[in-house]
Amino acid sequence: MTDANNLIAEYRNTGTLGSLPMGHFIDGAFSEPVHNRTMESFDPGTGVPFARFTAGTKEDVDQAVASSRLAFEADWRDMAPVERSRILQRAAALILENLDLLAVVETLDSGKALQEAMGDVRGAARTFEYYAGACDKLQGDSFPLGPDYIGYTIHEPVGVTAHIIPWNFPISTAARGFAPALAAGCTVVAKPAEQTPYTALILADLLHKAGLPAGVCNVVTGTGPETGAPLTNHPGVDHITFTGSVQTGRAVMKAAAEDITRVVLELGGKSPVVVLGDCDKEQALAGVLGAIYENAGQICSAGSRLVVEKSIHDEFVDELVARTRALNLGHGLANPDVGPVNSSEHLAKIAGFLDRARSRGAEIVTGGSVTEDPATGQGWFFEPTIVNSVAADDELAQEEIFGPVLAVQVADDADHALALANDCQYGLVAGIYTSNFAKAHQLARKIDAGQIYINEYFAGGIEVPFGGNKKSGFGREKGLEGLASYCKTKSIAARIG
Ligand code: NAI
Ligand code: MG
Repeated sequence: MTDANNLIAEYRNTGTLGSLPMGHFIDGAFSEPVHNRTMESFDPGTGVPFARFTAGTKEDVDQAVASSRLAFEADWRDMAPVERSRILQRAAALILENLDLLAVVETLDSGKALQEAMGDVRGAARTFEYYAGACDKLQGDSFPLGPDYIGYTIHEPVGVTAHIIPWNFPISTAARGFAPALAAGCTVVAKPAEQTPYTALILADLLHKAGLPAGVCNVVTGTGPETGAPLTNHPGVDHITFTGSVQTGRAVMKAAAEDITRVVLELGGKSPVVVLGDCDKEQALAGVLGAIYENAGQICSAGSRLVVEKSIHDEFVDELVARTRALNLGHGLANPDVGPVNSSEHLAKIAGFLDRARSRGAEIVTGGSVTEDPATGQGWFFEPTIVNSVAADDELAQEEIFGPVLAVQVADDADHALALANDCQYGLVAGIYTSNFAKAHQLARKIDAGQIYINEYFAGGIEVPFGGNKKSGFGREKGLEGLASYCKTKSIAARIG
């Protein structure tokens, strides 16, 4: 397998990578689209396009869904679970064998730092490993109906599942959906984001190299309206897993309503990190920095609000500002602390939030502007930014910015911190930093969020269910609960007496 340094050298010399896939991945192979239309994929670290990929249409989606339906009925649904498990185990190994390729491609396409991309690829392999182990443990129940009856449940795969994938965690989100769907016996049609099409295509190819029968995992690339919408509207799709914006999630839910298609929505967040006066300051500082600057803040579960107790507010924010100013920006391949944001449109959106804040007289204590890669003068960068003393009803405390922008909210005490934490339309995650065990768990129970991190932001792994409350969506991915979305329970009761 080609190592990262060779790939980086190839990219520096040619401006592209020869090993990028072309076309859709349908029926077990890369395939020509019905209409020969392509679009550019950009390197956010330079702002320059590095490849063209297929802009799919409804006709391509129709082919992919038909292929998935056939594979579901002919091959996958009824394969012995242990065989499905072995294929997914091999897939995990193949992902790791291709770690460097996947990570370099992910960095070029999304902009994220190479070491973060490597972490994402390892996480994707771990996701397949985890669900490989679940294939043969989808046990039902039996029910005590007395001597004259037998009652039991079986968990059947829901069928053809659609996966709409965003650009911030392309391979992670693909793996998080594909692995449990496949483990349950479902087939997959995925539409990666048009900003980051490549790793989903490579992943589908690797899954088939691991032994998936043709058609079990199809990937169609293109825009949301032209490729995503035909997929989520498709009557041949039995379930949709959508990760992205609230606005598009709403459209997907409406489309799903037409045919009563099942849906899991992982939408935005505006997650609070509650830092109480009695916390371990060092632990909390590191946690808050990682929570907002990892992936340049483009994480649905980013800790984008710091809710800090007044007693430590001044010194804590001063230290945070000092550490923020010390972060280095750069191209993802150079492994910076903070990389670019994903697109020029997205950069403009982030800048808009800060321009409005400035005109309201907000206290921007560091950052606040568009910038560039200091090494090249190129790319779509936003300065790591902290805005102090943000009011609870300010848009900086309510709206998802999805960039390296931290809004600081000052709390009088733990009760006030709880009120601030919950005063938001979103409810995805929350962090809590305190050395008081009881207080931590009291807050954990009362904060309205799908997951709570105590004394380590982003703690947990594939074992732990993940999903949102309120406008952050519903349904849970990851963990054994993540399998449930891809299963339908059938109860069988029989009279034998
Ligand atoms: P988006 O929600 O429009 O895009 C996510 C995915 O949905 C992409 O694959 C896109 O092609 C697809 N899509 C778009 N329109 C569709 C439609 N009508 N039917 C089916 N699929 C469709 O998000 P976008 O525009 O990329 O980002 C906007 C904002 O959304 C960001 O600024 C951020 O706040 C939020 N976002 C949240 C994410 C999360 O992880 N929860 C991920 C990406 C974006
Ligand atoms: Mg790109």
